[in-house]
Amino acid sequence: MKFNNRGLFISFEGPEASGKSTQIKLLQKFFKNKKIPYILTREPGGTPVSEKLRKIILDKKQLISNTEEILLLMSSRLNHINTVIKPALKNGKIVITDRFADSTFVYQGFVNNYGLKKTMNLHKELLNDFLPSKTFLFLLSVGEINKRLKKRKITNKYDKIDTLFHSRVISGYKKLSKNNKRFIKINAELKVDMIHETVLKSIKELLK
Ligand code: TMP
Repeated sequence: MKFNNRGLFISFEGPEASGKSTQIKLLQKFFKNKKIPYILTREPGGTPVSEKLRKIILDKKQLISNTEEILLLMSSRLNHINTVIKPALKNGKIVITDRFADSTFVYQGFVNNYGLKKTMNLHKELLNDFLPSKTFLFLLSVGEINKRLKKRKITNKYDKIDTLFHSRVISGYKKLSKNNKRFIKINAELKVDMIHETVLKSIKELLK
């Protein structure tokens, strides 16, 4: 397969325990095998500054308001875009990120009630509406999320077993992705290799 080195920005999104990280690892293997130039990054994080901010943002004991959290996320994202994402795209690499702006729209804008539109407007104003070309959105039922979370160690403040919270996250993603061609919706309850096949099919299409 040929890759024309034009750079491509792709994000993976979804609620907790949606299996996106597993799928990113599989996709990484594919890029390595095919010698396709790529970088893998994540949010919050992706740069030394943003990884420090991640600790503050996701700390269960840190007392910050929703607005303060949004501003930290936006500054962390701007640092990520300017120092990692844009340079990699300029070098013709594929950039895969585990979460990006849609997470802020959903978690802080919709779930934490800052306002979906208001958060999107802030992103437009501060980050010049910089968005991925395509977003794989992993969707699963709240029952399945809770079942999966029970088997893992809780690591951040949103990793909680809370049915109402996860239902809101799911509703937020559904609202955000409705009639939006940027999103490729994935049934995250299917088997890992079936999901990988679906992701690969879309990636190959994008690389044509
Ligand atoms: P993850 O790395 O396991 O996906 O966890 C990151 C957590 O951060 C997840 O619970 C969602 C949350 N988050 C936000 O609330 N807003 C954001 O903008 C981002 C990028 C993540």
